[in-house]
Amino acid sequence: MPHPRKKVIAANWKMNLTSSEVKPYLETLLLETQQVEGIDIVLIPSFTSIPKASELLEKTPKVRLGAQNFSAHDKGAFTGEVSARMLRDLFVRYILVGHSERRQLFGETDQIVHEKLLVAHRNEFRPILCVGETLEERKAGKAKQVLENQLKVALADLSVEDLADTIIAYEPVWAIGTGCTATTEQASEMHHFIREMIKDLSSKGPLSKLAAGDERQGIDGAQQLSVQEVLNGASTGVTQPIASAVEFGKRSKEVAAKIRLIYGGSVTPANACELLKSPDIDGALVGGASLDPRAFAEIVKAAATA
Ligand code: 13P
Repeated sequence: MPHPRKKVIAANWKMNLTSSEVKPYLETLLLETQQVEGIDIVLIPSFTSIPKASELLEKTPKVRLGAQNFSAHDKGAFTGEVSARMLRDLFVRYILVGHSERRQLFGETDQIVHEKLLVAHRNEFRPILCVGETLEERKAGKAKQVLENQLKVALADLSVEDLADTIIAYEPVWAIGTGCTATTEQASEMHHFIREMIKDLSSKGPLSKLAAGDERQGIDGAQQLSVQEVLNGASTGVTQPIASAVEFGKRSKEVAAKIRLIYGGSVTPANACELLKSPDIDGALVGGASLDPRAFAEIVKAAATA
């Protein structure tokens, strides 16, 4: 059976490789993946390498460009920060939000992650929202609770349409850069949990602002219902005919079926195929192994054949 969603394989270079290394990297990657189709390949270099990558990828839609970070502010006196608009100007389309290294080393709270997610959508990026538990949290049996908290805060206020367009990366902190990858069972279990939670988030609430039979763009007009409203269970005072309840249930299933959930944490060419075979895993966010274009290409190829 074909995989239900288009897979995403993203290379997070973190603070590695320089601008002059972009060209040879891309030449190798493009050569190695020339037979591959149907995969969203995303390169996420450091800020200083983005202009070069942008120039080289302008006419190569095969590889899309992402950024590792951006400011929650639109513009102004924020020395050293980079705005979402500046990145859009360089044809960056994907953006990481809430990577655990930003959370742990740079004090990004769930609230900041939430604000950045809204900024990312407002600027029409496709955000990759990273969530994941630490080893202590897993050992204490709190892994799902941690994910639930991170997701509830981050996704609040999102329209249902933006929710469906967010990529969620499950990156257990204990698997990042440790060589200790999650097993396919562990990753699949958490992805399944996240998808069920997304279904729940977008179906539990009242019918809110949806007009019966509203067929505006996106997921059948569902963009008008924010996740915060769903979470709060707040009534908007709009009376809905009972037929809309059925419609909304259908939409929530659509959102859960559409949203892409990818795995990150010590993904290598050796373990990628096994992980990507799981129907719950829609791709990978690759750190260390993405620094070698051949190794990254192997992971892309594994996604195409898994
Ligand atoms: P590693 O693949 O090096 O474990 O890094 C994962 C990661 O943090 C990707 O964002």
